[in-house]
Amino acid sequence: MHFLFEKKGDCTHYFSMRPFSTAIYERASLAIPGGVNSPVRAAKGLLPVPLIVEKGKGAKVWDVDGHSYIDYCMSWGALILGHADPGICSLVSQRMEQGSSFGIATRGEVELAEEIQKRVPSMEKVRLVSSGTEATMTALRLARAYTGRSKFVKFIGHYHGHADPFLVRAGSGASFATSRGVPNATVQETIALPFNDFSVLRSLFASPVASEIAAVILEPVAANMGVVPPHPDLLQFLREETKRIGALLIFDEVITGFRLSLQGAQGVFQIDPDLTCLGKIIGGGFPLAAVGGKREILDLLSPLGDVYQAGTLSGNPVAVAAGLATLKAIALPGFYEELERKSKRLALPIQEAIDRYKLPATLQRVGSLLTLFLGQKEVRSEEEAKACDFPLFARLFQRLFSRGIYIPPSPNEAWFVSAAHSDEEIDRTVAEVVDFLML
Ligand SMILES: Cc1ncc(COP(=O)(O)O)c(C=O)c1O
Repeated sequence: MHFLFEKKGDCTHYFSMRPFSTAIYERASLAIPGGVNSPVRAAKGLLPVPLIVEKGKGAKVWDVDGHSYIDYCMSWGALILGHADPGICSLVSQRMEQGSSFGIATRGEVELAEEIQKRVPSMEKVRLVSSGTEATMTALRLARAYTGRSKFVKFIGHYHGHADPFLVRAGSGASFATSRGVPNATVQETIALPFNDFSVLRSLFASPVASEIAAVILEPVAANMGVVPPHPDLLQFLREETKRIGALLIFDEVITGFRLSLQGAQGVFQIDPDLTCLGKIIGGGFPLAAVGGKREILDLLSPLGDVYQAGTLSGNPVAVAAGLATLKAIALPGFYEELERKSKRLALPIQEAIDRYKLPATLQRVGSLLTLFLGQKEVRSEEEAKACDFPLFARLFQRLFSRGIYIPPSPNEAWFVSAAHSDEEIDRTVAEVVDFLML
């Protein structure tokens, strides 16, 4: 049993962490580096051992010891319909019985590509891949091939998967790799800039380097440093400037695609990028992603063109079935209105408490993506996002966890509201968060 303590003024509040089995984690640590297959799952500094789940249904997950948690991680946004959605389960099991992978084209892939084309008009052609990392990697390769240039711009704090060129931080004047194993030479072509900073962008676009830039890639709403919306003029500015300098604009909508609207962020902000990356929701919880955009750019891909890209499981029929079931459900009238209502129900009372008691915190929300930043009043860039109060976040995380609520285990991540979250579950979350803020 693990005990956690909170001290405020003269009072010590304490509560017990739920008792965990550590046996599976001990086995995991012997078999898997760090015991997890993706680093943030380790919940470093937050939990004595990572949460290991057995099953999920609706808005809840159950751990291997049988405790339930209201889940706001939702497979990092993939599960807009919640866990084990009946529509997805039924299509997926039907599909499984007809074979799970062929390495040969299937009808479902065509239907999913057409569905994406129909919903996101800037995606005139679509190539299906298996992960967001593959989608962004392919988008960059396409942009470089199309423009004949090799440099590209990304924003600090935006995540585009783990391909080498994206694992970059800005240094004084130069970029350097943020991961060992990525040669600095690889990232010399990456220009990493602060988000929402017009002055650095203006000076870059006015410099001779502008003619060497193949693309600007960004999350149109940043969600990987916590939720940080773009300045109201930023996306239009980037659209105009990339056109002017002959570079491509790439929207990485792996999180925002089909989450903020049926047209993704580009529909909400009314900006057509040249290339778009999708993932998460289009796979309905299975490994599926896509890169798409202007026909003449996508047709550079082999076998039509000489930009190489391939994948054994690309367009996997089971993942495609889950994607089609998801797109069918979210296209029903009123889906996004209901998701917005639920997201407001979660966010507004928390923000009200922050405002009423003048607490040093802010809740940033765009649609069903939100982050409660503790210790900051406004977050517009990674620098501000990283300045939030980690020890306080750790106490929030642990308190919610002890009460059966699982938020993403990092202060710089989005919380994901799904269609499966009930009003009762949301209200319980609000009550716990507000109680914590009042401590
Ligand atoms: C915006 C964005 N792009 C790309 C990726 C990479 O996707 P994947 O983890 O499927 O490789 C992620 C993953 O979280 C993401 O949030």
